[in-house]
Amino acid sequence: MLKRARLTLCLGTSLLAASVATAQQAPSDSATATIQADKPGPRMNRQVFGQFAEHLGHGIYDGIWVGEKSKIPNDHGYRRDVLEALKAIKVPMVRWPGGCFADEYHWRDGIGPRAKRPVKINTNWGGVNEDNAFGTNEYMGFVERLGAEAYVSANLGSAPPSETAQWVEYMTSPSGSTLAKERAANGHPAPFKLQYIGIGNELWGCGGNMRAEYAADLTNRYAQFAKASGTTKMLKIASGPSDVDYAWTDTMMKIAGKNIDGLALHYYTRPRDKNWGDKGAALGFPESEWASTMAHTLRMEEFVTKHSEIMDKYDPAKKTWLVVDEWGTWFDPAPGSNPGFLIQQNSVRDAVVAGINLNIFAHHADRVKMAAIAQMVNVLQAMLLTDGAKMVKTPTYWVFDLYKPWQDATTLPIELKTPYYHKDEFALPAISASAVRDTAGQVHVALVNLDPHRAIPLSVAMSGATAGSVSGRIVTGATMDAHNTFEKPDVVKPEAFTGAQVSGGTLTATLPPMSVVVLDLR
Ligand code: AHR
Repeated sequence: MLKRARLTLCLGTSLLAASVATAQQAPSDSATATIQADKPGPRMNRQVFGQFAEHLGHGIYDGIWVGEKSKIPNDHGYRRDVLEALKAIKVPMVRWPGGCFADEYHWRDGIGPRAKRPVKINTNWGGVNEDNAFGTNEYMGFVERLGAEAYVSANLGSAPPSETAQWVEYMTSPSGSTLAKERAANGHPAPFKLQYIGIGNELWGCGGNMRAEYAADLTNRYAQFAKASGTTKMLKIASGPSDVDYAWTDTMMKIAGKNIDGLALHYYTRPRDKNWGDKGAALGFPESEWASTMAHTLRMEEFVTKHSEIMDKYDPAKKTWLVVDEWGTWFDPAPGSNPGFLIQQNSVRDAVVAGINLNIFAHHADRVKMAAIAQMVNVLQAMLLTDGAKMVKTPTYWVFDLYKPWQDATTLPIELKTPYYHKDEFALPAISASAVRDTAGQVHVALVNLDPHRAIPLSVAMSGATAGSVSGRIVTGATMDAHNTFEKPDVVKPEAFTGAQVSGGTLTATLPPMSVVVLDLR
């Protein structure tokens, strides 16, 4: 089972409330913002909208892969409904096979005729049989079908560096070598495109319980031997810190910084953060847990800022990516489900969490160059839930749909003054925002109102661009835990947003409670 030895997120709530108060407080009940369209910021890489797919519960099996013989409509074993839904939100990158699973995964178990592949125990996730039906060729077929990039996490915890080296050679070698011939015999003569390799996962925990110094030495060693052949440009991502572990980042950058292209950061949002056995329910929660969820998720701003500052010391040119390759909500497992499968429903609360985090990543687009929400299907804060032949899109899916214009867009500086939402010991900036100019030149503004009660009027001034008209979409719900089910799949879905106007160059809008709004300016 998961071990988070270094997870030291144990702030008192008063400190926590103070630490998230980064937006300026507005003097009234309305919010104001200024967008500087004439001062373009860094590009927001589309890879920030990446997703994580681990061999965990129904994440891969049943969720993505059903096999060619399944009655569920499939394309060579991949669920058609899931493929279509993921293509529609332009998933840019998929991280696989773990997670904790990665540091016990031996790639040779997952190649060749499926009937001959070994059956192993998934020791991290439920102790179930893993028949290795979904291996390297199946994963690469999946990302190829999505038009996404590949991010493979290598096993540093329980395999020698030669195993990583040979896996990379199997995937990327053009032809001629024995491993390239083996790949061809397995149905793929051309090399796969492998854009990213993870050098282990959570080496401070399930990846091997290492000290940062030891992990950094090993990172240097494994990175040295992971060589992509041919023309593939493969970036190497080191296993990074969890939330406040700033010493890990410092050590990793000091010892291994020159040999890596990216450093991972993991942070999960839990309503209750003292005990991993008691995180809070996904549905039917009290308002106090709405507030604590928002307070915890806003901490991403602090983590990204401080880890970036440490990286700046060693890499002032910001060449090394901060890769937030595990983020999202983590609630108690759905009642009656296998606790090792991390199944949870996904509500309007998750939609608001997604919007807040995507805005934070936009503000840090100079350093946060890639991210992966955990996880893609049926696990934690999923895009999609499946049950047999049924599939439903979650509120989080719809937020990713709204934010599509952010992919590869130019970020625009935005200054915000917002009223605060008060609940119990929490005082939280109610509005979060980001703005971009997309690749076609159009300006878009994302606005999240985390207050579950109050509609908030907002006016936005813009320098360097004049808007004549505005249209938009909103994701919201009638209750804090409004969600979609297989029986009622459209309870939370984007609707046209008619509450915004442009007059004399100023944009005004009233943001409904607990909503994510994306406005398109013309
Ligand atoms: O996403 C679930 C687990 O969370 C991953 O396997 C691990 O990396 C993290 O602790």
